[in-house]
Amino acid sequence: MWRPPQKIKWKPQTGHWPSREQAAGARLFSPVQCGPLRLATRTWIPAMVPWRATEDGFVTEDNIEWYARFAAGKPGAIVIEATGIRDVPSGPLLRIGHDRFIPGLRKIVDAVREASQGETRLLIQIIDFLSIRKRPEPQRFFERFLRITDQHRAALKMQDAPEEQVRQRLMTLDTAELADVLTRREMEDLRMGARERVTDVHLPHIEELPRVLPDLFATAGRRAREAGFDGIELHYAHAYTMASFLSAVNQRGDGYGGSLEGRARLPLEVYQSVRAAVGQDYALGCRFLADECIPGGSTVEDAAYFGLAFARAGMDFLSLSRGGKFDDAQQPDIGWSAYPYTGPSGYECMPHATSDEKGPFGRNFDPSAHIRAAIRADGLHTPVVVTGGVHNFDQAEQLLADDRADVIGFARQSLADPDWFTKVRCGQGDKVMLCSYTNYCEALDEKHEVVTCKHWDRLNLDEPGIRKTPDGRRRLIPAAWTPEVSA
Ligand SMILES: Cc1cc2nc3c(=O)[nH]c(=O)nc-3n(C[C@H](O)[C@H](O)[C@H](O)COP(=O)(O)O)c2cc1C
Repeated sequence: MWRPPQKIKWKPQTGHWPSREQAAGARLFSPVQCGPLRLATRTWIPAMVPWRATEDGFVTEDNIEWYARFAAGKPGAIVIEATGIRDVPSGPLLRIGHDRFIPGLRKIVDAVREASQGETRLLIQIIDFLSIRKRPEPQRFFERFLRITDQHRAALKMQDAPEEQVRQRLMTLDTAELADVLTRREMEDLRMGARERVTDVHLPHIEELPRVLPDLFATAGRRAREAGFDGIELHYAHAYTMASFLSAVNQRGDGYGGSLEGRARLPLEVYQSVRAAVGQDYALGCRFLADECIPGGSTVEDAAYFGLAFARAGMDFLSLSRGGKFDDAQQPDIGWSAYPYTGPSGYECMPHATSDEKGPFGRNFDPSAHIRAAIRADGLHTPVVVTGGVHNFDQAEQLLADDRADVIGFARQSLADPDWFTKVRCGQGDKVMLCSYTNYCEALDEKHEVVTCKHWDRLNLDEPGIRKTPDGRRRLIPAAWTPEVSA
């Protein structure tokens, strides 16, 4: 992952942990209404992909145990990982693209209800993504993937040569020479692996996205409700299809790009379609970017426009993330796909403890507060979930006290200690295992390996009955924690 050149080391702070009585009166542990959905507390575990589904996208016992373990800590809400709306192979990521996935998803719902004694509300993040290929061996790229065009022939002065000879010639060129022959896009396909964009409207399946996505999302939404989830988060953030429509880089000329209005059009149409499928009495919101954090990308002002448009349309909550784009991702190794959290925008999404003067804690606070203020100025009260580097009580409580957020997201911190919420509520904050923000979890995600946390995955490996990674070296969930006084 890219890191800021300043290389300043930051440490998470314990801050002041409240007593049980103080916690009982804290804003953080007060209820909040997200449209029809009431959360018992303003604590939220944002979506995190743990790479625990089957290759066919079904829920496994590992998924169930994982979410039940988070639920045991009783956060106000958990959003389960980005779950694909299409019925297409996508590796061990959850899917909701067919009714056959409903029974497995329902098991997660039941397990979360039981483990949280009915306290935690469970939402599902639903996602669409476009195709991305692995970075090819150059030889394979020139032999198989590259389509030889008249431009290549002209640049090489090989107008009449057989295609095979053109391919052979290309293989002999160095990078600078190739740059004069290949298009920018072809150079990128070679360097990074080919990746579809929403602007590839010459491809029929990309051109028709505005016609097919509303239904695909709506059907997935109907399934989510049938599976028993309390609500849905539309994934409009990071590097994926819907975020790409919102992006300032989206210059589609068919009314679904260019202006702010054009970029917001499909996300609003998808929302309306899902709303029609799930009804008004069901929590439906989205996650989007407070800032794309890429050159020429959407800014916080753009995000304020989108936030207002989503709130006016009737979304029940808005969850804000930042960055995480393919546009500035680092070159992957040959045989690997680009990962959207490796460049500067990826850093903004999951900042590492080695940082700049701003540090890794709270980079998203000001932009999120700005977007929320724009929504409030319009007289709307849509709750805004703010995430990014929150690990202690003071940070969270201050955001609420200052009227800068409504719900606080704890992603990596809840991975480090899913009992954070119970511990702090019962006055045992000093027992919290703080996240060290070294991105051990994110590195596992990058390699598509089962996500765990270094603070607990090697502890008590001989505990009877625990589930482990296939090599037996890591446990899959942290050991249970029992409060010294009942919570
Ligand atoms: C392992 C891992 C997987 C993630 N998967 C998702 C995801 O599926 N959807 C999403 O919107 N964000 C995802 N994120 C981003 C987090 O939800 C969160 O925005 C980010 O970690 C910053 O919050 P934090 O500082 O509290 O960790 C993931 C983060 C991690 C560490």
